[in-house]
Amino acid sequence: MRTPFLLVNFKAYPEALGARAVALARICADVAEDTGRSLAVAPSALDLSMVAKSVRIPVFAQHLDPQETGKATGWIPPEAALAVGAVGTIVNHSERKVAWEEMRDLIRKCRDLGLEVVVCADDVAEAETAAKLGPDFIAIEPPELIGGNISVTTATPGVITRAGERIRATNPKVQVLCGAGVKSGRDVAKALELGTVGVLLASGVVKAKNPEKALRDLAKGLGAA
Ligand code: G3P
Repeated sequence: MRTPFLLVNFKAYPEALGARAVALARICADVAEDTGRSLAVAPSALDLSMVAKSVRIPVFAQHLDPQETGKATGWIPPEAALAVGAVGTIVNHSERKVAWEEMRDLIRKCRDLGLEVVVCADDVAEAETAAKLGPDFIAIEPPELIGGNISVTTATPGVITRAGERIRATNPKVQVLCGAGVKSGRDVAKALELGTVGVLLASGVVKAKNPEKALRDLAKGLGAA
């Protein structure tokens, strides 16, 4: 991923399912093209293929399983995401936690397949543990702030800086993101000031009255193109 960037997680919000997922992804793609900033989207698993066919910005899965292909009914192995155009995946989001072993095995499989991995961490300790596994990015997201109106960059800036310090001390190759409650370009700019290379967000775009207007403001926070 070109950094700094915004990763818009569509979660399973009704505003971003099916045809609405494609429509919202196209708005993200238009804003990325217009502004020259780096934006990516993470639609629900069932919309991933359609979205990846519809836009030229990077598309991430929201979760994948470290399952082998073959007799794996209902599992979503990384190869399935790769086959429909995903460039990476989020894993261990606070709304979809996985066991440490699952995260370890998934990161290994994704690395072999050339898929980028964004690991979510609830706190500094979890971020430090995850850094040992060497994902591409770790997103520090305090669960209590997710979906709220107070940005993590305002409510708990110290958690972001401490997580960044512990992650870099553990594995300097891992890049840091943050998320939870991010709503404005000012929040994004503050996230970069606190040592991250971008933001993971959802409701500030998906639930916005005017998602395009919200995205243009958020993208400004990434600085010059
Ligand atoms: O994955 C992003 C997310 O958990 C943050 O959600 O709605 O607070 O931007 P939100």
